Amino acid sequence: MKGVIFNVLEEMVIKKCGMQVWNEILYTQNLDGIYTAGESYPDSELFALVTEISSQTKIPAEELVGSYGEFLFAQLAERYPLFLENKPDLRGFLKSVDSVIHIEVKKLYSNPSLPKFEYEDLPDGRLLMRYHSPRKLCILAEGLIRGASSTYHTPINIEHKICCHKGDPHCDLIIGFPDE
Ligand code: HEM
Repeated sequence: MKGVIFNVLEEMVIKKCGMQVWNEILYTQNLDGIYTAGESYPDSELFALVTEISSQTKIPAEELVGSYGEFLFAQLAERYPLFLENKPDLRGFLKSVDSVIHIEVKKLYSNPSLPKFEYEDLPDGRLLMRYHSPRKLCILAEGLIRGASSTYHTPINIEHKICCHKGDPHCDLIIGFPDE
């Protein structure tokens, strides 16, 4: 994963738990904590950090990754405001992640580790986002989607029954828009 992902994780831990906790996490994991935004670092390093943060804060890893996704979205929206500018609503924004936003990310960074999303407008009005990634960061994706929902002031609910962590080949994130 790119250094920017680690930079934002550091920012969240320092903001919520303080610098001392972050330093202890790095020390326990024997990491120097120096991450350059555009450089790639092993996925295993991110997973080790999440496991360590979870054990130090007693927050279950899944909950932590979800909250991190929400925090990450706000940070990405601040760093790359252009990506949101042309998308007036949440549904349109979500549909642009695979074919516009992550394509722009590929221009910004060399060899980024990105998921693949396929979309379907379901007859009942919900939006299916089918997530494919060898990293299995579907809970991060859920958090990012919730972060987008707050930024767009549009309430949503997410159904996530088909999941790569249950042995399915992908995850189906089915997004409902109760206010539409
Ligand atoms: C709701 C909107 C979004 C969703 C659901 C989403 C989903 C994801 C997920 C799940 C990953 C982790 C990699 C993986 O699963 O394989 C990821 C990586 C990433 N995304 Fe997105 N994303 C969203 C919006 C954005 C936006 C607005 C940006 C703005 C630049 C962005 C930039 C990135 C970057 C830089 C990475 C890391 C690439 C790497 O580490 O190599 N994403 N995205």
